[in-house]
Amino acid sequence: MCGIVGYIGQEQAAPILLEGLSRLEYRGYDSAGVAVLDGQTGRLSVRKASGRLAVLAGQLHGGADLPGSAGVGHTRWATHGAPSDENSHPQVSRSGRIAVVHNGIIENYAGLKAFLEDKGVPFTSETDTEVVAQLIEYFYDGDLLAAVGRVLRRIQGAYALGIVCADCPGQIVAVRKDSPLILGYGEGCAFLASDVTAILRHTRQVSYLEDGEVAVLTRQGIRCYDRLMQPVEKPVVQVDWDVDAAEKGGYEHFMFKEIMEQPQALRRCLSPRLQGGEITLENFALSGQYIREMEKIYIVACGSSYHVGMVGKYQLERLTRRPVEVALASEFRYMQPIVDRRTLVIVISQSGETLDTLAALREARRLGAFVLSIVNVVGSSIARESDQVLYTWAGPEIAVATTKAYSTQLALLSLLAVYFAGELGTVPQAEYRAALDAFAQLPDEMEKVLERKDGIQYFASRCFNHSSVFFMGRNVDYALGLEGSLKLKEISYIHSEAYAAGELKHGTISLIEDGTLVVALATYDRLFPKVMSNVVEVKSRGAGVLALTTERRREEMARTADAVMTIPDVHDLLLPCLGVVPLQLFAYYVALQRGCDIDKPRNLAKSVTVE
Ligand code: G6P
Repeated sequence: MCGIVGYIGQEQAAPILLEGLSRLEYRGYDSAGVAVLDGQTGRLSVRKASGRLAVLAGQLHGGADLPGSAGVGHTRWATHGAPSDENSHPQVSRSGRIAVVHNGIIENYAGLKAFLEDKGVPFTSETDTEVVAQLIEYFYDGDLLAAVGRVLRRIQGAYALGIVCADCPGQIVAVRKDSPLILGYGEGCAFLASDVTAILRHTRQVSYLEDGEVAVLTRQGIRCYDRLMQPVEKPVVQVDWDVDAAEKGGYEHFMFKEIMEQPQALRRCLSPRLQGGEITLENFALSGQYIREMEKIYIVACGSSYHVGMVGKYQLERLTRRPVEVALASEFRYMQPIVDRRTLVIVISQSGETLDTLAALREARRLGAFVLSIVNVVGSSIARESDQVLYTWAGPEIAVATTKAYSTQLALLSLLAVYFAGELGTVPQAEYRAALDAFAQLPDEMEKVLERKDGIQYFASRCFNHSSVFFMGRNVDYALGLEGSLKLKEISYIHSEAYAAGELKHGTISLIEDGTLVVALATYDRLFPKVMSNVVEVKSRGAGVLALTTERRREEMARTADAVMTIPDVHDLLLPCLGVVPLQLFAYYVALQRGCDIDKPRNLAKSVTVE
């Protein structure tokens, strides 16, 4: 949420900042801005505009208009104050000599603002960020770092900050607490970014700022300090993400590209873990004894990652016979969860930076649980703070609506369920082997599903005018429906709900009338007849039914449903992972028909770093 980029070097900064921001726009796109320091004139120029980055880039002719070789940039997801030019970042101090970009929320900003107003400091925006800029200036006596240090002792909340000052054209100060910030190292230059994709074109050498740390970027290098302002050495790591993977590569939308990349992502995720007929989990620290003594599993996540957890609950409980609870991270952290050292907490996050998930992780560890995380972004906060991390290796995911991260998370969680079952001896050997064989086939099976995309586009062309859609299914198909419904509503803006099919008649069926669209999910064979009964019920009340089932059930379903999408007949552990693909494509094509901004749906951001 909100993207920050910073550059100091020999080249003109503004074009580099704008290019970096274009890769961070998925974090927020309410407004954009840059602050550039010109060492020659000592001028600090700030330009910002509400709306998409393209508006600002147009005004600045791609950055060519702004001289100076150091600066910071920002793309905003509005929290405090509506999207407007005034509320855009960078926020500047009263004199215009200090500019700040910020990701996060300063929770005690109101008190600090009142304090400064009392001292006669005028404010021009409604943002919490302006308080930081004004407060730095208030404490500034020629030593920027010292002023920042004094501000840090007073502000509360979550923040990543990029700070420039007209008096110090040779440096950028960066600070982080609970919001991600990485440092990039180049020849005679240095970078700052919320996410590595923003600087991947320039450097692959990065380090991760830890909570409370401060960095000073100069052309000669980067100096880092801990919260007591003692110098710290940061390990520099090499990022191996491919630059092209973060480009559209000829596709119209990142979302479509990422849907199509799923077989490849699954291969990367699964093949190294399925060697020699066994499941190999890298540096796995959970002993067989721990797994046998584990009394409960908690899965904690947000959004689509939470939906992965919902599928995982059904699968883990069935395979391991251990109780599994699934909690939204935003609830878990405040619900006094019953967790101890015999509880395994599985945290799922694509970005590894979702603030609620990170806070839940910390709470779980505080309570003594072992935390295993399933994460896509290498080196992210959640990955670093977990006792054990399993990476999904899906590659960079740019579209706000997650696709390949979801399917790899799901495949990995299902594989983990089989691994635990193997350790616990809760499934017969033959069943264990059959599951492993099935996982090895998953990427190929997914390719077959993707080949049917034209059929799904056709269904979408018949459904895109609906104003409300209900998804229903049972067991893993219910969990799958939650994700299908979220995908549809977030990118097409069609109202949509997902229900356990048996629950529909306890209220929601009153909303079914002539022509209401119901997407019936019936891939889980054991419950196929039950879902069929629910299909008949909604059909009898006038609904139009688009069904998703397996090849073997196509004919039977086609006798009742209006249209049928299918996936191959695979091992039941893999059904949700394949089943999600037609639902992703359906949402994509519906949104395309409706002319929506698919990669950047309104009001959403990909990385949610505020509560
Ligand atoms: C945002 C994204 C969702 C994602 C959720 C959790 O809402 O738009 O796609 O599922 O955050 O993100 P995480 O990175 O923790 O998986």
